[in-house]
Amino acid sequence: MTMLQEAPLAAAVGPAVFKDRFGRPFTYLRISVTDACNLRCVYCMPENAEFLPGGAHLTDDELALVVESAADCGVRKVRLSGGEPLLRRGIGGLVERLAGIRGIRELALTTNGTRLAGFARRLAKAGLQRVNVSMDTLDEDKFRRITHNGTLEHVWAGIAAAEEAGLRPLKINVVLMKGLNEDEVEAFAALTLVRNLQVRFIELMPLGEAKDCTLAGGSFGYVSNESVWQRLVARFGTLRPAPESGTAKVYCVPGARGTIGFISAMSAPFCERCDRLRLTADGKLRACLLEGGEFDARALLRTGLPREGKRELLHQAFKSVADRKPEVHAGWRDLPGASMVRIGG
Ligand code: 5AD
Ligand code: SF4
Repeated sequence: MTMLQEAPLAAAVGPAVFKDRFGRPFTYLRISVTDACNLRCVYCMPENAEFLPGGAHLTDDELALVVESAADCGVRKVRLSGGEPLLRRGIGGLVERLAGIRGIRELALTTNGTRLAGFARRLAKAGLQRVNVSMDTLDEDKFRRITHNGTLEHVWAGIAAAEEAGLRPLKINVVLMKGLNEDEVEAFAALTLVRNLQVRFIELMPLGEAKDCTLAGGSFGYVSNESVWQRLVARFGTLRPAPESGTAKVYCVPGARGTIGFISAMSAPFCERCDRLRLTADGKLRACLLEGGEFDARALLRTGLPREGKRELLHQAFKSVADRKPEVHAGWRDLPGASMVRIGG
């Protein structure tokens, strides 16, 4: 068969999904659209956090070109995160632009929820499909202690608005910490009995302000998902397996409306299932949170090359960072520049 005959078929099925040397397909791109946040979660950033200057972030146009190129590599799902993505000016327009890119089938966003009530309808209309909301406690006072300046009531209003706008199924991200919110495991899981949402327990990773969380004697400490599992089984009886989603192992309490996810980055690393590429808030491509280095997409985007030339070079850059993704990362340690808000939580 000649190349000419093959072309229409390739166009119909879309580009082949790019796989790395370990057979992992890369179908998912996470973008930190800003490193700024209106909260100061104890494990994430100090109260006097400094953020990138405005010009360091990629423009909407630049982000669209990166996503077009990612789609050329087989990326099908894009998640916008941060920092707090709803702080980015013109986020509705960006969502609309990215949702319209050929090949992108799913567009999602991770938010702290504090501003979600005012955005949910607009974002859903613009083409957003789902949201994950970070909410580490169900107690208003504790929420203030963990986030320093957040109001839990605003987050609940955001969750209600998102569900009403059809951004479902909604996922709630919970990072448990010893001596802070560990006692709320059962209360979070009980939400799934009555609501069709997924509560996800994310093990605290030793990055940013949490870099010492695995050491004894820290002000807040890591809680293993194994201990969460045991508490839930003691309280609810057996947990039934539900379909896995990405890096989460998912279960449900029999008869519950929602599900419970476990993201055990510390106790059960999921490198072999990791299908992620990342774009940092300052425009660097990465394939791993920890290793494999970065490619400076911003520098390329700001050269005088024509758009199509940049798209092709970005395509090659995606392949090269994916090829440098380690089979399994070599362990958690303090890495310069490895902050969640820059790389994208
Ligand atoms: N460990 C685990 N999760 C973290 N997040 C931010 N920093 C950390 C960390 N050190 C989470 C947030 C949010 C998601 C985007 O990343 O709580 O749910
Ligand atoms: Fe903001 Fe999320 Fe960091 Fe909290 S964890 S300070 S909400 S970016």
